[in-house]
Amino acid sequence: MTSSAHLPTLAVLISGSGSNLQAIIDAVDSGRLAARIAVVASNRKAAYGLERAEAAGIPTRYHPLKPYRDAGKDRNQYDADLAALLAEYAPDWVVLAGWMHIFSHAFLQHYPNRIVNLHPALPGQFPGAHAIDDALAAFQRGEVDHTGVMVHLVPDERVDEGPVLATRAVPILPGDTHDTLAARIHATEHDLLVETLSQLVRSSVSKE
Ligand code: GRF
Repeated sequence: MTSSAHLPTLAVLISGSGSNLQAIIDAVDSGRLAARIAVVASNRKAAYGLERAEAAGIPTRYHPLKPYRDAGKDRNQYDADLAALLAEYAPDWVVLAGWMHIFSHAFLQHYPNRIVNLHPALPGQFPGAHAIDDALAAFQRGEVDHTGVMVHLVPDERVDEGPVLATRAVPILPGDTHDTLAARIHATEHDLLVETLSQLVRSSVSKE
């Protein structure tokens, strides 16, 4: 059996419920994802994902932006400090699983081709924080009949853009509400994120 010390390591960044984090935790536990979660970091203290991590025995870090704003420090400082904090855990990959901040070069430069983002829409469609509602509104205007989910690398400061690793379409059904569509999208996210990470860590291990 491989020692967990030699598995590729993940830093998972969250801002909220952490249902995608939970999918990663479960996939690690079941052996579907051959990786170790080295740390979970959140910019929000109340993020339920922190509790999920603690329940799984994973180290957690809370890194809020407000003290930086209050002290008149710029975003680069926040990002540089987050990078330094994560460096303590030497993650091979940084996974943005519902992380709601946009990174500057001060963070990105530390993880070239090593930051993975999950977004609840297909490439080029519905970027930003309201992707599910935007897709539903487009459906109601008769402009689309489906939306989807993507997993992509984060090379720069563009929002929800970058080399696409995987996509999956999600149908929108007549009568869908935010909640019914969100449930369908999240179930798809959980599976696609785990599948993509598991391929990614396998391919990175085989190249070493
Ligand atoms: C997901 O829909 C993700 O795509 C988006 O934020 C949501 C996070 O959900 N960026 P959760 O915290 O993993 O439950």
